Amino acid sequence: MSLQEAILARHSVRQYLDKPIEKEKLDSLQAAIAEANADGRLHLQLVADEPEAFAHGLAKYGKFSGVRNYIALVCRRGEDELLGYRAERIVLLAQTLGLNSCWVGLTFRKQTGRYTVADGETMHGVIALGYGANQGVQHPQKPIETFCKAPTKEVPDWFRRGVEAAVLAPTAMNMQKFEFELLADGRVAARTRFALIGTYLKIDLGIVKCHFELGAGTDNFRWA
Ligand SMILES: Cc1cc2nc3c(=O)[nH]c(=O)nc-3n(C[C@H](O)[C@H](O)[C@H](O)COP(=O)(O)O)c2cc1C
Repeated sequence: MSLQEAILARHSVRQYLDKPIEKEKLDSLQAAIAEANADGRLHLQLVADEPEAFAHGLAKYGKFSGVRNYIALVCRRGEDELLGYRAERIVLLAQTLGLNSCWVGLTFRKQTGRYTVADGETMHGVIALGYGANQGVQHPQKPIETFCKAPTKEVPDWFRRGVEAAVLAPTAMNMQKFEFELLADGRVAARTRFALIGTYLKIDLGIVKCHFELGAGTDNFRWA
């Protein structure tokens, strides 16, 4: 499965089977995490076989069950967009490995003993990982025009494919408060629109930019 196919297959999964993730798959995830952390801006950490973060009322309220593995989403302050971008690539990698996932900002409990948050870093949440009891469902979608701004009605195919991939991305509460603008010089500007709950807007922006690049192809454009 390619990352592009993973975009189509991925949906948030909140119920997991009692089936451990094989060592080779954990190793692949660890390698991707090490690469994402390499320049010191992110501090993603894989926490395996740790059921406590999802063993309480908040997680049950969020309809989570069986979560034993997750990635702690830690980064330097101000690196939220980069965190969204790089962590979403790991979500898609997990999907290609046959694993399911769910970004979780709120409905879990912090387990400070199981990962570290250094001075100057923030913990934004986790990505639950494992073998899903189901494959999730496609989230409700708005027409892709909602997310496009362009000088003319006709947009190039690569731009449309980019937006289509972005529309399939996870966003906090499925808010989808983002917009891609095709500039007259062919570059693309990505931005988030106003939202009442703004906490995750930068992370969402990084996530949708990751999807846009995979849909549009990085050879076809440059970010503004
Ligand atoms: C930054 C972020 C935070 C999220 N936090 C939660 C959460 O606390 N609880 C939850 O159940 N889902 C959470 N989600 C998952 C979204 O609700 C989900 O991605 C969205 O509804 C779209 O559905 P999909 O992922 O199946 O496409 C979060 C997603 C993102 C990107």
